[in-house]
Amino acid sequence: MSIRTSIEQGILTLEFDRIDKKNAITAAMYQSLADALRAAQTDPAVRAILLRGKPKVFTAGNDLEDFMQRPPSGGEGAEAAPVFQFLYQISHASKPVVAAVSGAAVGVGTTMLLHCDLVYASDTAKLSLPFVQLGLCPEAASSLLLPRLVGYQRAAEKLMLGEAFSAQEALEIGLVTRVLPVAELHDFALAQARKLAALPASSLRETKLLMKAGAMAEVEKQMADEGAVFRRMLVAPEAKEAFSAFFEKRKPDFMKFV
Ligand code: COA
Repeated sequence: MSIRTSIEQGILTLEFDRIDKKNAITAAMYQSLADALRAAQTDPAVRAILLRGKPKVFTAGNDLEDFMQRPPSGGEGAEAAPVFQFLYQISHASKPVVAAVSGAAVGVGTTMLLHCDLVYASDTAKLSLPFVQLGLCPEAASSLLLPRLVGYQRAAEKLMLGEAFSAQEALEIGLVTRVLPVAELHDFALAQARKLAALPASSLRETKLLMKAGAMAEVEKQMADEGAVFRRMLVAPEAKEAFSAFFEKRKPDFMKFV
């Protein structure tokens, strides 16, 4: 099981559970996440959603081998590739989403946080957005939401250099709600999700909608624009070089590309 799913006391927990591959997300895992989030929209048993990984790793992001072998195609709705279905569902979730992030949160492991409501990180969390390092471009509307959240120049550093940054820095720039000792993270995030589950669901729904509705059309357009570029870049030589280098455990050589 690569996504562990449970519904208890009003909380849908989605847990990355593929530790041998650092919780890298395959198409099948994206599909499970998208299906669970879609079902949660109308399931009265779900009042809040908790996204979590393991204490040592949240997720290493997209499974690079899966991406290389089966690059996601375009399409709309249920026809879209699982990664795009997941991004649609998390960005349109009407119920509150809490994330508990510990260890590495790479690529989509960080961009998905831009769509969560409460983001708790352990003091061991390391966030990164290495899309350029992989010959790709940002996704999940991060090229819109990150500059808006943290300012253009700070977003440019994160999105262009792709270097990992600490939970403390993520807190300072506003990407994370609170930083906790790793041993306390998951219990704290669950307690916060329980608080949300006990509140009036309609009030939470309307509050979230009021905060998010104004930007939704822009977010959708940015995701569509990013998706088109991302799909093109995924099959370009730069990404092939980056992915091969990762699996061959060597440094990529991008100097041969103009
Ligand atoms: N896709 C596929 N496999 C991945 C992966 C990914 N994104 N991330 C890690 N793995 C695999 C490794 O290939 C390795 O497999 P192996 O044991 O069969 O050789 C295993 O997971 C352990 O990874 P490793 O790199 O040895 O762990 P680490 O603790 O040294 O480093 C990370 C952890 C997350 C920093 C590192 O794995 C990493 O940078 N991964 C790639 C992240 C990435 O670029 N994601 C895509 C974003 S769009």
